[in-house]
Amino acid sequence: MTTVRHLAVAALFAWTVASPSHAADTTAAQQLAHWSAQAGSPGNADKGQVLFTTRHGGEWSCASCHGTPPTAQGKHASTGKSIAPLAPAFNPKAFTDTAKVEKWFRRNCNDVLSRECTAVEKADVLAYLSALKP
Ligand code: HEC
Repeated sequence: MTTVRHLAVAALFAWTVASPSHAADTTAAQQLAHWSAQAGSPGNADKGQVLFTTRHGGEWSCASCHGTPPTAQGKHASTGKSIAPLAPAFNPKAFTDTAKVEKWFRRNCNDVLSRECTAVEKADVLAYLSALKP
């Protein structure tokens, strides 16, 4: 546990140093380490899957736009616009731009949960997405 926390803190430090917001400034693994460090525990893929696939009192779940599993092209639930796969193994660009990830997490969590997601929830969702492999 101490080692895990240590690694997470080291990753967080690396992330902070490398974080200025331009495209391709991070990776899914770095983001997962970042949120796990903030949450104080590693992301839980099972909880992430539940959060992602269920509705939280509103009209949409994350899966409404991103699909289940989110490994193929998604389709926006209201505009019909196509969305690149969210799972990093299926989309090399996913989770590589800090500003983009922050922006969409804020916006999408507000749409689905009527609030921002916590670090724990972000770590869980990313653990779920990272576990999806071809
Ligand atoms: C109403 C449709 C919609 C819903 C619902 C939705 N998203 Fe999204 N999401 C989008 C669109 C559109 C993008 C931008 C895609 C692009 O430009 O590549 C996006 C992008 C993202 C990104 C950035 C991915 C990247 O390329 O780095 C993340 C992370 C994300 N969504 C997470 C979520 C989560 C978590 C939920 C549920 C809480 C959710 N989304 C629900 C439409 C949606």
